[in-house]
Amino acid sequence: MKVLNVTGCELYHATIVKGEGCYVIDSNGKKYLDFEAGVWALPLGHNNLRVNQAIIRQLGEISHTAYRYTHPIVEEAAADLLHIMQLDDGKCVFLSSGSEAVEFGIKIANKISGKPLLLNLDKHYLSAYGVAGSIKSTPWVSIDWQSGEKNQQNNYDVLLKDIPFENISAFVFEAGNSSGNVMLPPKELIQAIVSKVKEHGGWIVVDEVTTGIGRTGAWFGFQNYDIWPDIIACGKGLGNGYPVSAVGISKEACEMLERTDFAYGQSHQNDPLGAAVAKEVLAVISEEELLKQSLERGKYLVTKLKELSAKHNCVKEVRGIGLMCALEFESSVDSDTLSIIHKKLFDAGFIVGLRLATRVLRFYPPLIVEEDMIRDMVLALDGILEEMQ
Ligand SMILES: Cc1ncc(COP(=O)(O)O)c(C=O)c1O
Repeated sequence: MKVLNVTGCELYHATIVKGEGCYVIDSNGKKYLDFEAGVWALPLGHNNLRVNQAIIRQLGEISHTAYRYTHPIVEEAAADLLHIMQLDDGKCVFLSSGSEAVEFGIKIANKISGKPLLLNLDKHYLSAYGVAGSIKSTPWVSIDWQSGEKNQQNNYDVLLKDIPFENISAFVFEAGNSSGNVMLPPKELIQAIVSKVKEHGGWIVVDEVTTGIGRTGAWFGFQNYDIWPDIIACGKGLGNGYPVSAVGISKEACEMLERTDFAYGQSHQNDPLGAAVAKEVLAVISEEELLKQSLERGKYLVTKLKELSAKHNCVKEVRGIGLMCALEFESSVDSDTLSIIHKKLFDAGFIVGLRLATRVLRFYPPLIVEEDMIRDMVLALDGILEEMQ
C-alpha cells in the first residue's frame, strides 16, 4: 500500500469505489449504508447530481482565481451563507478545511481583542493543527462541564468562578459534537459563559464544522442555544465532500479587523469552484427542506435506538439532536467486544462511527437518510447484540 494511513483508524478490507446517496459500494459490488456521511461531511449524500452539475458548470468557467480580483459566484455564495448565519451585514471568507476555518476565526478574534487567553469546553475537538489543535495547553482555559460535582449541581457560578474572563480573547464554542461523543452542553451554561465573555470585551467564535449545515436540525448548532456569535467557522457539509470551508464575520468584528494590518493568504482562498459548490449545497438544503427532514429523521433514529437500549442492558445511554446521535455502552463492554460489534455491523453493510475510548457507536447519516434505512441499521445492531449475549 502506497497511501500512508495516519488517521488513527484501522482500514477495513473493503475498497470503496462508488457512492450513491446514502450508500457506498465496494469493488465487489457490495453496498453499505453510510451512517457516518463520509467524515460527517455529506448532508446531501454521495454523488449528488445537482452538486456535480454545479461543479461541472463552474469548471467550464473558471475554478481558481487569485487575490487581486473576485468572481460573481463567490459574492453570491458569501451572501447566501451570511444570510443563513444571520450575519447579512457581515463578511465571509472561503477557505479549504474545517481546521483552517476554526484557526482563521481564532486569529481574527485574537487580532481584534488583543487579549492573551482562549476559552473552550473541555474535550470538544476543534482542529487537526495550530492553536485550536492543542486545546490542552496555553493559551487555552477549559471548562470541564461534563464531569464533577460543580456541574452536577447545575451551579454554573461555581463552575465559572475561577475563569479569568478579563483576559479571554474569545470563547470558542463547539455546539455538542464533542469529539464525536454527542455531549450537548446545557443552554443555561452556554448563555452564562457568552454573557460573561461579552461583558469583559471578548468575542464569541463558534466552530460549526460538524454541527453546521443542518446536522442538528437547524442551519447551525449555536441556533439551539439562542446566542449571537461574532465569528462562525464552518466546513465539512458546506462542500458535501468537496474541500471548501468558510468563516462568517459580524459587521462589528469586520470593521475592527479592517482597521488593523491583518493579512492572510492561502492559494485557494475564495476560489470560485469551492464557492459554487457551497452555493449549490445551501440551495439544495433550502429547496428540499432538509433541515425539517433532519430533525424528523433524527427523532426517529433516537426513538429506534432507545427501543434497542430498552432491550439490551449493555447500552448505557442514547443521545442525539437532529442527525447527530450516539449510543454509549456500559463499562462492562470492553474494547474488543465493541470492535467486534462495529466490524459485524460493517460486514452486514452498515458503516457507523466508533469511539473506543468512550464506548460509543455514532450515527451521523446524510440528511437525506430514509426511515427504512434507519430501521434496517437498528435491526442489524439488535441482531448482533442478541447474538453476542
Ligand atoms: C468540531 C470540529 N471542528 C473542526 C474539525 C476539523 O475539520 P477538518 O477535519 O475539515 O479540518 C472537525 C473535524 O472533525 C470537527 O469535528
